[in-house]
Amino acid sequence: MKGKAVLIVGGTQGMGAASALRFAAMGSSVTIVGRNSLLGEGVVSRMRAAAPSTDSRFRFRQLDVTSMKGCREFCHSFVSDLRSEQAQLGAVVLCAGNLNYGPRRLTSEGLESGFALNFLSRFLMIRELLPFILEHRHDTRIVNVLGAGNGGSIDYEDLQLEHGFSFIRAAVVHATLTDLTTLELGQRYKDHPSKPCFYHMFPGVVATNALANGGFPCLIAKPASWVAPLLFPSAEKVSKTIVSIASDPEYGHHRSPGLLGPSGSEIRVPGYLKDSKDKQLQIWRVANEILDRI
Ligand SMILES: NC(=O)c1ccc[n+]([C@@H]2O[C@H](COP(=O)([O-])OP(=O)(O)OC[C@H]3O[C@@H](n4cnc5c(N)ncnc54)[C@H](OP(=O)(O)O)[C@@H]3O)[C@@H](O)[C@H]2O)c1
Repeated sequence: MKGKAVLIVGGTQGMGAASALRFAAMGSSVTIVGRNSLLGEGVVSRMRAAAPSTDSRFRFRQLDVTSMKGCREFCHSFVSDLRSEQAQLGAVVLCAGNLNYGPRRLTSEGLESGFALNFLSRFLMIRELLPFILEHRHDTRIVNVLGAGNGGSIDYEDLQLEHGFSFIRAAVVHATLTDLTTLELGQRYKDHPSKPCFYHMFPGVVATNALANGGFPCLIAKPASWVAPLLFPSAEKVSKTIVSIASDPEYGHHRSPGLLGPSGSEIRVPGYLKDSKDKQLQIWRVANEILDRI
């Protein structure tokens, strides 16, 4: 990854920030995206300190990814920077997300906010970056960090949970949709000469501020934040696996279907994804239709 560009969406804290620091130490140029500029600039300073050479570029871009228009604009300017700097895009790591406690909220674009954050923004980022990725032979890897294999049987007519929102139902929907689109992307581009790789990873339970960030009540989030480091791995530890998936030859193009568990090993395709081609195509069409309207 030395000398290559890396994009980390959701890179201001947690696993995204820890991955950003690892890429910086490997000599990559890293752009991180998030809403919190104080945290973002802090990660940029730490990346500078960790970098082996002064040639690498480190940037924080402030963006609320629940805005599809904002994501689209960001991707255009990111690609334009890559082109003008003649940079190779080594990896895209999609970490922006949370276990949204609720209540159900709509964005100004009329999307359920968790659906926008955990699924559609990621799908859109991939869709907008794909032309650049396919145009070049940079062996770009796209790693979605969410909930591979943790989906289930969902109501395909109610993806934005108008009828009965709960954070658990939302998490199952977002994991299922990301599984389906990862499989579809892998199948669509498996023989493409630019050899892009698409992964969806479930990191397991990781000791981050995820519960507080997801709006869980203090009475749950606070004690959890004390206990979690005793029971679960840190973001720093898990970022080692994320960065390996994004860069290690071991995770080369032969790995398919790209659904990975906490240790980075392939998970067995769960029952809800068996014979899923129709569902893959349905979600592909629905996601594209929503995005084409915004
Ligand atoms: N921690 C776990 O146990 C666990 C388990 C399974 C899956 N996951 C998933 O893995 C991913 C990373 O988890 P994590 O624990 O590292 O999370 P985290 O510590 O809460 O960090 C989340 C990152 O996403 C960014 N983000 C959140 N909402 C955003 C928005 N609307 N626009 C732009 N950026 C946004 C945050 O940045 P700003 O606050 O600066 O916007 C932050 O950088 C998440 O999708 C999470 O759901 C986590």
